[in-house]
Amino acid sequence: MSTSNGTAYGRFPGARPRRLRTTPAMRRMVAETRLHPAELILPAFVREGISEPVPLAAMPGVVQHTRDTLRKAAAEAVAAGVGGIMLFGVPEESKKDAVGTPGTDPDGILQVAIRDVKAEVGDDLVVMSDLCLDEHTDHGHCGVLDAEGRVDNDATLERYAEMARAQADAGVHVVGPSGMMDGQVGVVREALDGIGRHDVSILAYTVKYASAFYGPFREAVGSSLQGDRKTYQQDPANARESLRELALDLAEGADMVMVKPALPYLDILARIADTVDVPVAAYQISGEYAMVETAAANGWIERDRAIMETLTSIRRAGAGMILTYWATEVAQRLRRGE
Ligand code: PBG
Repeated sequence: MSTSNGTAYGRFPGARPRRLRTTPAMRRMVAETRLHPAELILPAFVREGISEPVPLAAMPGVVQHTRDTLRKAAAEAVAAGVGGIMLFGVPEESKKDAVGTPGTDPDGILQVAIRDVKAEVGDDLVVMSDLCLDEHTDHGHCGVLDAEGRVDNDATLERYAEMARAQADAGVHVVGPSGMMDGQVGVVREALDGIGRHDVSILAYTVKYASAFYGPFREAVGSSLQGDRKTYQQDPANARESLRELALDLAEGADMVMVKPALPYLDILARIADTVDVPVAAYQISGEYAMVETAAANGWIERDRAIMETLTSIRRAGAGMILTYWATEVAQRLRRGE
């Protein structure tokens, strides 16, 4: 680089990067990365059959919503300028079964929640839904099982197609297939197009690692899972594999792609963001949230600064959109100019 070959600009004592850090105004002016409420997406849980919201022990500040409080949370997100909401339904325990029937029942809690939120916010918020069976199955896996108890990829795809139709019928803007079955994006696209819903888009969970950081989410959705998801979610050791998942999802019709979890996988996020010409999202997951909240509650880190630093880092690595449980709070803070 010509600027670092020995000119005064490129060498100390002429070169002093600290000059651009002297005042808050200077730092604000030269900042390369900024957060905006519209790029934040709020993941929200709604639980069937409860009359009061249920706080989640491992995610302080996050609740399982009633239908009513979910509507309020959606309205609050709109007021704060949040871009979207990602809905997760938690059916009554007795309704879960081996094939995840509540996930395709027009009166299943997720479909009900989509209709509720659409009635509340209309098109003022992008309404998204998790398209996966794990919240709805009694065994807690993301798909249906074969006779040996293994997750059956192609039988699961048929259920996903049905889920896509049920969610589209309920009025969702975007579906988020998150089960990591091979071929899921293509099958979902075909199912939507088959009922004339070319307008419903797909946010593909393209890169999803079998992560220990999903721990608190399992409480959030009352997961029944025994064992792990290592036969369908990716091995944290692999990076190139993500590019293969990406190529497949784009070929199958993904409108947007996601990397998940976020902070431990910023290298993957940066590679994906450099490669694609579709919007890229990252999901700051439950364990990432819990780590910050717990450390802050103990007085070990500054909560608000830590939250902004994680989000800025995810944005800097290349995410255009971030799913975060702090979406509304952070959007409010950004609006106040903090
Ligand atoms: C699967 C799904 C999971 C999350 C979002 N969608 C759980 C999993 O794969 O085990 C995790 C979200 C989080 O941890 O915040 N339906």
